[in-house]
Amino acid sequence: MILVVDFGGQYNQLIARRVRDLNVYCEVVPYNKALQAAKEKKPAGIIFTGGPNSVYEEKAPKIEKEIFELNIPILGLCYGMQLIAHTLGGSVISSDQREFGKTETSVENVEIFENVKNPTTVWMSHVDRVENLPVGFEVIAKTKNCPIAAMQNKEKNIYAFQYHAEVNHTEQGNDMLKNFIVNICKEKQDWTMANYAITAVEDIKEKVGDGKVLLALSGGVDSSVTAALLSKAIGDKLTCIFVDHGLMRKNEGDEVENAFKDSGMNFIRVNAEERFLNKLKGVTDPEEKRKTIGEEFIRVFEDEGRKIKSVDYLAQGTIYPDVIESGIGDAAVIKSHHNVGGLPDVVDFKDLIEPLRMLFKDEVRELGRELGLADYLVDRQPFPGPGLGIRVIGELSKEKLDILRDADYIFREELEKAGLNKNINQYFAVLTNNRTVGVMGDFRTYDYTLALRAVETTDFMTADWARIPYEILDKVSVRIVNEVGHINRIVYDITSKPPATIEWE
Ligand code: XMP
Repeated sequence: MILVVDFGGQYNQLIARRVRDLNVYCEVVPYNKALQAAKEKKPAGIIFTGGPNSVYEEKAPKIEKEIFELNIPILGLCYGMQLIAHTLGGSVISSDQREFGKTETSVENVEIFENVKNPTTVWMSHVDRVENLPVGFEVIAKTKNCPIAAMQNKEKNIYAFQYHAEVNHTEQGNDMLKNFIVNICKEKQDWTMANYAITAVEDIKEKVGDGKVLLALSGGVDSSVTAALLSKAIGDKLTCIFVDHGLMRKNEGDEVENAFKDSGMNFIRVNAEERFLNKLKGVTDPEEKRKTIGEEFIRVFEDEGRKIKSVDYLAQGTIYPDVIESGIGDAAVIKSHHNVGGLPDVVDFKDLIEPLRMLFKDEVRELGRELGLADYLVDRQPFPGPGLGIRVIGELSKEKLDILRDADYIFREELEKAGLNKNINQYFAVLTNNRTVGVMGDFRTYDYTLALRAVETTDFMTADWARIPYEILDKVSVRIVNEVGHINRIVYDITSKPPATIEWE
């Protein structure tokens, strides 16, 4: 395995993705836990990521010298390179010119650049750079503005690039990473989801033994794949409780039920729409709505869970991005996400089972396919835990939810028909709490305004609004006002994130 040491850069998860794409397992650790992790996990190689600091800043993340003495190959990227130089006795300067963007680089004929063209194009984004090499290092790449664009200490197996090999703009970045991981660290490329499924099934069997496992199944990708994996491993020792809070999209509750009810596990669908709507009466504040839905979800789950005798384990669909702690501080909480809240208090569990804990989202999808789950479950776009509860603005009612469900269905159907769903990462409708005057036939109407939202994003932390062709928007608009009652105006949301968020509440 490869250890990725996080110094707080924006591409850190991308580095881990690149390693996994080479079919090599890797884990990300914050820089202050790197030495301990390296000693415990004995990785085949270590990658230091970039980061926003300058090595001379007082608060800049540091690394213990001892990590260089463990006889493990190390590759530093950007800040990672500067830190290697600084820690091992070289020096770093702030250049007066920021080097940014695609840059032509000449490279030496060395192992880490095997099969790399000379010159090659790399992606630079830095102000600081290494000025003097530490003892034992040599220069292996340079650009016009950066005389030490890469360096190595062959004897100690330490390598460093000033540029970002992990981004696509570095033409042969993947080859460079592969040279490091496969040739230098000697890693086998055998991390595949087919292998993962086999090992995970064995591990789950062994851990659970004759015990019973309970899982809250939401129908989202993560909990569905968790259910399929557990079901394969332990069959009817698994009970899945699917809390249908009445805030699902059109037909979604039935789709989830159909996918799982005959799979050999115990599948319980709780139709709790009324219970949720009662709790939500009079609630208009978005945060209060989220909290109410999250809490009620746990209460319903507990009520059902208590009916099942002697449960030993609680399973959860936690995935790797939820687990990775950033190397630098915590990001501000913008919205409270309900599925990462507290654990239900059903009975005394022996332990948690989180079989997707080390997987990225696309690996979870691949695993789902490997386990034979239907495409519509595996390819599902993200859907918030509080569901349509945060897509009907203001107070909820069954009537408003039904209007939204019908309109949202048409929007999604038309985008999918036009093939736009491949590039648009999330798309849905929002029922605003606004009513305006319209005219239909010869009559005045006073009905709701519906908003359409569609975004392109890779990480959902930032997003751009999708440029849907006017003809498609027009088709959607005409269909919705004709086919769905109580909507007489449709608007398209043309804000990116930031400053807006993807969801409206
Ligand atoms: P925002 O609105 O914060 O959303 O830009 C970012 C992404 O997160 C999803 N989202 C949630 N997902 N539980 C979830 O599992 C939640 O409570 C929740 N709230 C928002 C949102 O759909 C988008 O993909």
